[in-house]
Amino acid sequence: MPTLTTPSTPSAVWNRQHLLGLQGLSPVELRLILDRAAEFKQLHAAGHTKLDHLKGVTVGNLFFEASTRTKTSFGLAAKRLSADTVDFTASGSSLTKGETFIDTARNIEAMGVTQMVVRHSTSGAPHHLAKHLRAGIINAGDGTHEHPTQGLLDIFTIREHRGQIEGLTVALVGDILHSRVARSNIWGLTTLGAKVIVCGPATLIPPEIERLGVEVSHSLDDIVPRTDVINLLRIQAERQRSAFFPSIYEYAHFFGMNGARVQRARQDVLILAPGPINRGVELTPEVADGDRSVILDQVTNGLFIRMACLSLLHEARQC
Ligand code: CP
Repeated sequence: MPTLTTPSTPSAVWNRQHLLGLQGLSPVELRLILDRAAEFKQLHAAGHTKLDHLKGVTVGNLFFEASTRTKTSFGLAAKRLSADTVDFTASGSSLTKGETFIDTARNIEAMGVTQMVVRHSTSGAPHHLAKHLRAGIINAGDGTHEHPTQGLLDIFTIREHRGQIEGLTVALVGDILHSRVARSNIWGLTTLGAKVIVCGPATLIPPEIERLGVEVSHSLDDIVPRTDVINLLRIQAERQRSAFFPSIYEYAHFFGMNGARVQRARQDVLILAPGPINRGVELTPEVADGDRSVILDQVTNGLFIRMACLSLLHEARQC
């Protein structure tokens, strides 16, 4: 097996057995994950498509909420590291017979699962498991709280294209109020020295969000010319309990990225979107598929970020 040059844990750099969010991670910890992911990407390009860092380990993918990218990507990442995997989806499970969330997770743990990837519509659900189980827990998106591996893959993609994060201006546009991706991006990007602007209708910006060290804007047209990166966040209709803007048409008119706005942006602007995208709402098809879009790079990089997280958490458990 190829030897990694990023520090192997246990070490002073990484001793976490869970990854519940990017809040509180140090610049050194964030860079270690990014550097480890870059190494896995290089190894893959060199033909090392199957590594044995997780040989003998069983990873559980527990998805209590829908997913395409995150679930597939974690499953593939675990297999690329030679782990066995167990997939759980809420529909069709014994949750429908009244079994509790914690009992469900404990039963899956009892089958020998030592790392669990958990997505849940309730903020804090993975933290609850981290308190009650022995397995290492990775948050794959909890309610409106955090989606740490999405934040990491966004940051990795920006760094890959720009060389560094420090000094960049990154706009997060859209439904900041309900977006766990926004929070993970804010924690990770500000820790690594980027300036973050959150932009959207006033109804979709949480009160006092400036306390997280971000600038607030309600005009995409004002900020487009002065940003290096524009990350277009999905309108989280499934989490909205009331009408936050008059119509999708008006939202797209004021906050959607379109060809005219790309023309007014910096020539080298990067367009990101975590997906799933609503074509014609957060961005038009010409922007999603245009030459400034790195949306599919984000998906590709997600695999290597998840390999990095799984391997680091596994190494931390060995001490
Ligand atoms: N970006 C993201 O989390 O996508 P999925 O919901 O498809 O996993």
